[in-house]
Amino acid sequence: MSDNRPIGVFDSGIGGLTVLREIINAVPGESTIYFGDNSRAPYGTKSRSTIIRYSLQNMRFLENKDVKMIVVACNTASAYAYEELKSRAKVPVVEVVTPGADEACRATKNGKIGIIATKGTISTGVYKAAVEKRAEELGMKDIEIFQQACPLFVSLAEEGWWDTEITRLTAEEYLKPLKEAGIDTLVMACTHYPLLSKVIGEVMGESVVLVNTGVATAKVVKSLLESEGISSGNNGADSLREFYTSDEPGLFEQVAAPFLGEGLPSGTRHFTTDRYEVDV
Ligand code: DGL
Repeated sequence: MSDNRPIGVFDSGIGGLTVLREIINAVPGESTIYFGDNSRAPYGTKSRSTIIRYSLQNMRFLENKDVKMIVVACNTASAYAYEELKSRAKVPVVEVVTPGADEACRATKNGKIGIIATKGTISTGVYKAAVEKRAEELGMKDIEIFQQACPLFVSLAEEGWWDTEITRLTAEEYLKPLKEAGIDTLVMACTHYPLLSKVIGEVMGESVVLVNTGVATAKVVKSLLESEGISSGNNGADSLREFYTSDEPGLFEQVAAPFLGEGLPSGTRHFTTDRYEVDV
């Protein structure tokens, strides 16, 4: 039995497109609906209750579109709102924290793992806890975790300054403590950061493995589609790509196109989810 309903993906804005890109690569035969809550971004500086409310509203929008799975393509929303989303969802929900933690534990050789994210994600401690839990499950001892909030990275990525001198200087400043700590694995625990991975990689040096949570999440999406028996069975030619933003579609496409390549996204529509009433 094949299920041709789309996969719903949401983020605070355009960063989640880095996750969408990996999902499209991993399961090209699946249709997707992407919602970027650009008018209310960034989430990384907002309070817990606000992020939970926004996330529930975004989920409601996607459920109204009859999606078969929801991917929370935002680390901040995953860190704050996943439990709440999961408990209220009608379909499976995939978050980005656990897959990233798993990948980091498998990649490290010296047990020193760095996590970079928004202030919000770091302050929840959810990522650190996820890495510790996964390390324990894998029987790993002596894991050391070093966290660093890199708030300016989001603005640099949104600005399209993916490989500029100012980005390099900012990265050198933020990443200095992690370099000094001798980490060998760095989790880019924010959807925007993979866009800066060239600079981040150069600053950290070749010996440090960069974990892109989008790649790890796409693997989870693929295996969940199979285990739930809800794959589309298509080969990719008929897959639909829909995009919605709560801000101006033209602006969204201008900034978002380089994320996905191949002329995507196009035909983006405007929608605001703050019309949905949710109990938080
Ligand atoms: N999408 C957010 C995340 O992954 C980054 C941007 C924001 O703060 O809204 O944490």
